[in-house]
Amino acid sequence: MSNIVNVEYGLEKIFDEAQDFLPLLGTDYIEFIVGNAKQAAHFYKTAFGFQSHAYKGLETGCTEYASYVIKQDKIKLVLTTPLHKDSWMNDHLSMHGDGVKVVALWVDDAKKSWEETTKRGAKSYMEPRIEKDQYGEVVRAGIYTYGETVHIFVERKNYTGVFLPGYEAWESAYNPEPMGLKFVDHMVGNVGWNEMDVWVKYYEDVMGFVNFLSFDDKQITTEYSALMSKVMSNGNGRIKFPINEPAEGKKKSQIEEYIDFYNGPGVQHIAVATNNIIDTVAKMRAKGVEFLSTPPDEYYKSVPKRLSDHNHELAEDIEKLKSLGIMIDADEEGYLLQIFTKPVEDRPTLFFEIIQRMGARGFGAGNFKALFEAIEREQKNRGTL
Ligand code: FE2
Repeated sequence: MSNIVNVEYGLEKIFDEAQDFLPLLGTDYIEFIVGNAKQAAHFYKTAFGFQSHAYKGLETGCTEYASYVIKQDKIKLVLTTPLHKDSWMNDHLSMHGDGVKVVALWVDDAKKSWEETTKRGAKSYMEPRIEKDQYGEVVRAGIYTYGETVHIFVERKNYTGVFLPGYEAWESAYNPEPMGLKFVDHMVGNVGWNEMDVWVKYYEDVMGFVNFLSFDDKQITTEYSALMSKVMSNGNGRIKFPINEPAEGKKKSQIEEYIDFYNGPGVQHIAVATNNIIDTVAKMRAKGVEFLSTPPDEYYKSVPKRLSDHNHELAEDIEKLKSLGIMIDADEEGYLLQIFTKPVEDRPTLFFEIIQRMGARGFGAGNFKALFEAIEREQKNRGTL
């Protein structure tokens, strides 16, 4: 338990301490700026089991950019690409490569969310605006967070359309089966040297979040590199944003590598939940998704003891987990199963985590060493360790 700070106080009590001036209903959508949205949508449909959902572009009268919305259960990704040379999105692409621009949060009152957060020091990205079509109206407003990343508050209680005004339903002849991804479990931001506490304070002061787990560079370290992480949560625990910063090690921290290639802070990984990680990961692997290398045999040999130390029993076949490279971590409350993709673009920046929670509410602290050694093998291949 030494890896986890604060958990002994009980998560419910900690969540109660979060401020309720910003009630969040969940993640609404995550928008990426990409070089070729049509191809990116095809990749996420094929490789991750997302479904065609909505579209905006030349055919719908939008001459500036094209956006493809793909959906799987509660997860909505928006893939947006500029159509002309003078778009601000080209600068975003040149600077960051494909990456996350918007983490949209579903709220009951977007105007109030914007007012409460800007009043507390958030920099405005978009003043409250009402968008309408024949299906009703949506209110959106936005604030900046780390780097060029933004949060947009989305109020959709008076809207019955497919996604947002201006979008049309995307009917595609190509509809691969879903792969069991359910919702966004957490989403991690990387920030620069000595900036973690700045952004922890931002989420506390501006958004009323609480810091409920902390990991220092003694806990997240390998022979070569280190990082520090603090997990921020909103009051109902639906939104969890761990924030990482690099730490000094013998070699380059994976966070520093990210910052170098992304040219600043940004979203490092999106963790998506499944109820059947064995089935989900087998399907993703069959469609060519690349995951970090499987931990060594000794790792899997230690799993039964790691679970029994916390009085848990593994419901899954450990040989299956091992053959798919899925990792296991346990705490008092239960265990979790997780695996990490390699970066999903050529720059070593954004990647995905697939997670199945079997009672545990942590983030796999017991897997950090095995995980980071796998990442270091990739860094070594890239010549960036
Ligand atoms: Fe994670």
